[in-house]
Amino acid sequence: MKTVLVTGATSGFGKGLVTALLEKGYNVVATGRSLIGRQDVFAHEREKYKTQLVELDLDVTSAADMKAIEEYFRQRPLDVLINNAGFAIFGPVEECSEEKLRKQFEVNVFGVFLLTQKLLPALRHAKGHIINFSSAFGLMGFPLSSAYCATKFAIEGFSESLSYELKPFSVKVSLIEPGGYRTNFNNAAEWGMELSTNSVYSRQVKNYTRLRQNLATRPNPQRPEEVVQGVIKIIQTNNPKINYSFGKDAFLVRFMKKIMPRSLFHRISGKALYSQFNKEH
Ligand SMILES: NC(=O)c1ccc[n+]([C@@H]2O[C@H](COP(=O)([O-])OP(=O)(O)OC[C@H]3O[C@@H](n4cnc5c(N)ncnc54)[C@H](OP(=O)(O)O)[C@@H]3O)[C@@H](O)[C@H]2O)c1
Repeated sequence: MKTVLVTGATSGFGKGLVTALLEKGYNVVATGRSLIGRQDVFAHEREKYKTQLVELDLDVTSAADMKAIEEYFRQRPLDVLINNAGFAIFGPVEECSEEKLRKQFEVNVFGVFLLTQKLLPALRHAKGHIINFSSAFGLMGFPLSSAYCATKFAIEGFSESLSYELKPFSVKVSLIEPGGYRTNFNNAAEWGMELSTNSVYSRQVKNYTRLRQNLATRPNPQRPEEVVQGVIKIIQTNNPKINYSFGKDAFLVRFMKKIMPRSLFHRISGKALYSQFNKEH
């Protein structure tokens, strides 16, 4: 059976993927920050899928963790790499700290680039499949989200380029572009600046906070399980596509971009976002 490595497996899509892959009979290398010390995360799976599950520490910003993973796969095949680990930093460009911006890129971009680079020999050997988590925010810009959007746009360019580069070796590359799903994502997101009521952006910050709260509490949210099951189908496909969008919101963005000239898309989305972010209460 194929071996799949999942990054950011401690919660959300990553954790769901590990469980679902084990259920399907895959060998899974679940990785996460200090995962070995977080015994509760896969307590049930460790018991039930003894021979299929390997847990390894992997903070994607840690050179030592990366090296250990590279060593682990030096003599082992790797069929599927799922670069799922990621988080968001929100805030106006003018106010976000350099430290936070660098952290955003370290995890969401360099983490993906460097891990992929280290595991490519094993993936090439297995004629494997790389699955990178982008986002609907990798398809369109959003106010107070420039850092996060920039990292996901970067993952789009990285993945598309890599797919062409690896074609001669029969290694496939796919992008997952989810809309808003209720994982731990919203709780884990950080502001890139000190919050201040004196800021010229305070109205936008207030409206974004409300918007995020509404999305986090609205009834009938999109179910993370549909992304998990969708990714498993993609792994099982012989000729996977490069882009896969998930959720009505991501589909709408893709559809609008497909049918409209760019200038019209920017005018319509700009108008909607302006009124959403600048309304007075
Ligand atoms: N949920 C959404 O609405 C949504 C939409 C579009 C795209 N996405 C993308 O989907 C992916 C998974 O997010 P999620 O929604 O499942 O959120 P989540 O529940 O917050 O899971 C994120 C995972 O990434 C891990 N992570 C963060 N920094 C890390 C680091 N330095 N090294 C290793 N792991 C790290 C977290 O580990 P810890 O437990 O240690 O924090 C956690 O396991 C992300 O790439 C995200 O950008 C999410």
